[in-house]
Amino acid sequence: MWYVIFIPVVAVAITHVVYNWQAGRCHSQRRLDGKTALVTGASAGIGKETALDLAKRGARVILACRNVEKAQHVADEIIKESGNSDVVVREVDTSDLSSVRHFANEILKTETHLDILVNNAGIFAPYHRTLTTDGLELTMATNHYGHFLLTNILLGIIANSLHPGCVRTEIASKAGGLSGFFLSLLQYLVSKDSKLGAQTSIHLAVSEEIDSVSGKYFVDCKESTCSKLASHRGMSKKLWLASELDVKLEPHESILYTS
Ligand SMILES: NC(=O)c1ccc[n+]([C@@H]2O[C@H](COP(=O)([O-])OP(=O)(O)OC[C@H]3O[C@@H](n4cnc5c(N)ncnc54)[C@H](OP(=O)(O)O)[C@@H]3O)[C@@H](O)[C@H]2O)c1
Repeated sequence: MWYVIFIPVVAVAITHVVYNWQAGRCHSQRRLDGKTALVTGASAGIGKETALDLAKRGARVILACRNVEKAQHVADEIIKESGNSDVVVREVDTSDLSSVRHFANEILKTETHLDILVNNAGIFAPYHRTLTTDGLELTMATNHYGHFLLTNILLGIIANSLHPGCVRTEIASKAGGLSGFFLSLLQYLVSKDSKLGAQTSIHLAVSEEIDSVSGKYFVDCKESTCSKLASHRGMSKKLWLASELDVKLEPHESILYTS
């Protein structure tokens, strides 16, 4: 009966090895001296690894986080590991529109330029439908609306999106419940570590070949096809307009304003 356990264990181990082996890696050696990069949700997981990589390349890195104390520990670690002391923490809660507005306007006032924006902060909260003080659903507010508003206020831009794959980070344990348990299990069975999981974010932020690419979707450092729903032109336009309305975007806040 030993093979009842042995075969699944070997199958999972092989899948895990293949998954990691075929994961995309950013090969760009580009330096970012003189550039400023902002990473939301840089206090853990993929965002933390992305911020570390950008700091190693010489950029001024702004860790945009909701938990300032946790983020300051991460900033200290990044400064130590990268040898780059130009790593700062700024407070923002991406689920709160007034926090995002305040944060974005402070960045506009205090930074002379912003070259890279990595919209990374996110949660996985499948269980309870929770509304934010703005009346928005919490996951949509954290992962989408906050970044939609932030991006509109901060930039005229090259913008690409990505899927990092299944990455072993804090996201599953924070989710709790049965879905959190199954996601944690999946993360331990078949997943990449956060360093590997950050490669596509880093690739989009630094690679020379991306300088003239915009509006595309990437997986494993390669351009990929997003779902039919996501690439539906009418639907994208509807989402854009609904987002402008839901975040109450003002014409003066964005050059992309369309309503
Ligand atoms: N891991 C995966 O397999 C996977 C798969 C697909 C997509 N993603 C996406 O990848 C991104 C990074 O996730 P991760 O796996 O690295 O998760 P993680 O380890 O939980 O890190 C998420 C980061 O987002 C921050 N954050 C959460 N809510 C926030 C808010 N309201 N305001 C500001 N910051 C907030 C967290 O801050 P705290 O440290 O304060 O909690 C943390 O720094 C997310 O957008 C996620 O949806 C991940």
